[in-house]
Amino acid sequence: KTIYRKDYTPPSYLVETVELGFDLDPACTIVASRVQLRHNPDSKSRDLVLHGEAIELVALRMNGRELNPDQYIIDNNILTIRNAPVNVLLEIETTCVPMENTTLSGLYTSGSGFYTQCEAEGFRRITYFPDRPDVMARYTVMLRADKQQYPVLLSNGNLLEEGDLGDGRHYAKWEDPFKKPSYLFALVAARLVCQEEKYKLKSGREVLLQVWVEEGNLDKTDYAMQSLKNSIRWDEERWGLELDLDRFMIVAVSDFNMGAMENKGLNIFNTKFVLANPRTATDIDYSGIEAVVGHEYFHNWTGNRVTCRDWFQLSLKEGLTVFRDQEFSADMIGTDSGRAVTRIDQVRTLRQAQFPEDAGPMAHPVRPDSFVEINNFYTVTVYEKGAEVVRMYQTLLGREGFRKGMDLYFERHDGQAVQCDDFRAAMADANERDLKQFERWYSQAGTPVVSVSGHHDGARQVYELTLRQSCPATPGQRDKKPFHIPVAVGLLGSDGKDLPLTLGGKALGTTAVLELTAAEQTFRFEGVAHAPVPSILRDFSAPVVLEYPYSDEELLHLFRYDSDPVNRWEAGQRLAMQRLLSLAQAVLDNKPLQLDDTYVAALRAVLTDKELDAAFREQCLILPSETIIAEQMEVVHPQAIHSARQFMRHAIGTALRAELLQVYGDNATPGPYSPDAISAGKRGLKNVALAYLLVQPNTEAVKLAGEQFAAASNMTDRAAALSSLIHSGADAGKQLDAFYTDFKGEALVVDKWFAMQGSAPHTNVAKVRELMKHPAFTLKNPNRARSLLFSFCNNNPSQFHAADGSAYEFWAEHVIKLDALNPQVAARLARSMDRWRRYAPALQIHMRHALEKVAAATPLSNDVMEVVSKALSN
Ligand code: ARG
Ligand code: ZN
Repeated sequence: KTIYRKDYTPPSYLVETVELGFDLDPACTIVASRVQLRHNPDSKSRDLVLHGEAIELVALRMNGRELNPDQYIIDNNILTIRNAPVNVLLEIETTCVPMENTTLSGLYTSGSGFYTQCEAEGFRRITYFPDRPDVMARYTVMLRADKQQYPVLLSNGNLLEEGDLGDGRHYAKWEDPFKKPSYLFALVAARLVCQEEKYKLKSGREVLLQVWVEEGNLDKTDYAMQSLKNSIRWDEERWGLELDLDRFMIVAVSDFNMGAMENKGLNIFNTKFVLANPRTATDIDYSGIEAVVGHEYFHNWTGNRVTCRDWFQLSLKEGLTVFRDQEFSADMIGTDSGRAVTRIDQVRTLRQAQFPEDAGPMAHPVRPDSFVEINNFYTVTVYEKGAEVVRMYQTLLGREGFRKGMDLYFERHDGQAVQCDDFRAAMADANERDLKQFERWYSQAGTPVVSVSGHHDGARQVYELTLRQSCPATPGQRDKKPFHIPVAVGLLGSDGKDLPLTLGGKALGTTAVLELTAAEQTFRFEGVAHAPVPSILRDFSAPVVLEYPYSDEELLHLFRYDSDPVNRWEAGQRLAMQRLLSLAQAVLDNKPLQLDDTYVAALRAVLTDKELDAAFREQCLILPSETIIAEQMEVVHPQAIHSARQFMRHAIGTALRAELLQVYGDNATPGPYSPDAISAGKRGLKNVALAYLLVQPNTEAVKLAGEQFAAASNMTDRAAALSSLIHSGADAGKQLDAFYTDFKGEALVVDKWFAMQGSAPHTNVAKVRELMKHPAFTLKNPNRARSLLFSFCNNNPSQFHAADGSAYEFWAEHVIKLDALNPQVAARLARSMDRWRRYAPALQIHMRHALEKVAAATPLSNDVMEVVSKALSN
């Protein structure tokens, strides 16, 4: 059943208070709920509607009187009490079975503990409740459980009381002083230990910070704690937002569907985004922890204090909070070049995942108009494109103007459940700007294309840029209206320097933000004596595809001189992409492959330029991924793309061998490991160099990698050495075994071990099936399932798209298997087939077949059904 945004109606009843009592038992947990409700004057209906799913109703009392089954209706997971009084006290008793809850939504067990995940609609798997975000209430929670097995009992807010119950059980009573929607409820009951610290806020108030983990992981909590403290400080300094609780807890759990969850005062995290020490975690893991700890903490204001009216507004909190965590990570590095590298990463994510989503069968606006299963809409569009939309306000209004808008947003909406439009109104009103047209970023799906042409008039000393915009059709949206697009532009002279810009007599510095609002607009720069090279869409000022007929010479000029590091990198990517596409064509035409010296020379110049940050040089060395190349092709031939990219890597590795060796040696990071951006950048550059040196496994490079693997004092260097060895096709059996033996007790490292094999180009589907027989493999743990299956289906295109369709069959089989355990995870895997209509016809036949097989499976969750049926019909 499809749910539409336009059908929103206010809740018929509002909840004042909720008292929850839990008798925790893995095989049968009893939940007693006392809910004080009041009729909502904004609603005409007197039907009291409660959601409930996969729970057993034991008793239901209204205003003190037991209700008989004929006094309410339960249909389709909805319990309705007709014509209820204005004031209602409900007492509800239900049971559930946490140990059989493999969906990881609601209350479930992981290892030997109890955990919850309620966003988006998991609370209804705990008790009957109006489980919608616009119903905000105050919660008191009583937890009772066996003391031996579950010594730690946590819930939202403040601990009121704890003690023994006799018979080996104990209790803890928690109270959350803030009103919250049910999706922010959480409890944890487990055998855990914590790192804790008292932390002084800028106001002088002291708060208690805790990071809870399983025993044995206490040596991996420092970075999460440090990141939490940095987040608290940053939110105070950059936005004036203070932590509103006396206690803030992070709990790590190894079975978790997503990254983490911002439950009020009790953030629950996938272990992947908490646990780190130099031995087990890579630089990328460390930066992921910083970003996700920040993200969840920042939700306390953007998400919890101000929440969403309905789930169509999800990007209101997610887009904004991703933007905030991006800015946090950038500010933590602190340098302009470091900030640019984080921006380049964001651009890469958009192109790798969001642009394809926006062009495929699941395309949806940042604020969707409809969905079947809301869990399918926790997407790169809602999150990352949503963050780009927020960033564009800041680009249009300036940092100060944006801050004014944020202040007004909180002033108006603290304690409320609101819509994306309310955020836009706050931005507009605080700055007295008309942002009406900007609304289209929320309502229209698809990636806009901005085509630019330049014209220089030497006699008048005028340089004209003409910008045209269009947006491809997406499912259900044929015609698109023009967007309000900020296009940051600079002009480079022949010396590579930025020209001072003048538009309409106004001096604009060296980067001007052009506001493209019409289908076509021309901007006239004055006082331009010689034809410049335009640097367009600086800092990736809008999530669009930019078309400009750049010549090689112009791109080489930008790659050499652009003062905007993002566009400098971008010029290199364009140079590479042109070559990759013609190489792929040459593969298809059976023509000889060649790489020109000009490109290699340009890359050499960047590689050896010691003025440039290592992290930036690393970014420039990374070629567009096979997925990104595929998006550029009318008809996708994965093997041709793979051969083309491999050839180019080989040619670069061979031509720049001496320089790569030099860079490899220059960027060692001796001494104790530190995850800071400078050190991480050096390791990144060094390890990319190593991967290039290994493209044609030669004894010298294999030896180098083997030595690095054996001598590495941190996981970054160890995993990079092993991964490059495997990916090069060298025989790394010995190292793979050693790695597994050393780390078999570290689940997150075992995930890496599976993931690097799943994505290695010589790992075919038979090999994956063999790996699945490994004793450490299980489909039940999402991280483990993702490590092998997702890395194979999403990051190993030349094998996933094997000509005989065997990997598609494998995909179908495992989507169905996973669906029986965990529909959310299964539906993610189902997305691997999104772009099937773009592949060569022979592959499409197999792909359709696999999709149909999944669509016909019974039973099938709504989650997977929505994904495959959209793929088949669009
Ligand atoms: N709000 C969480 C975050 O972005 C994501 C939780 C989503 N969970 C889910 N089952 N869809 O931080
Ligand atoms: Zn979030």
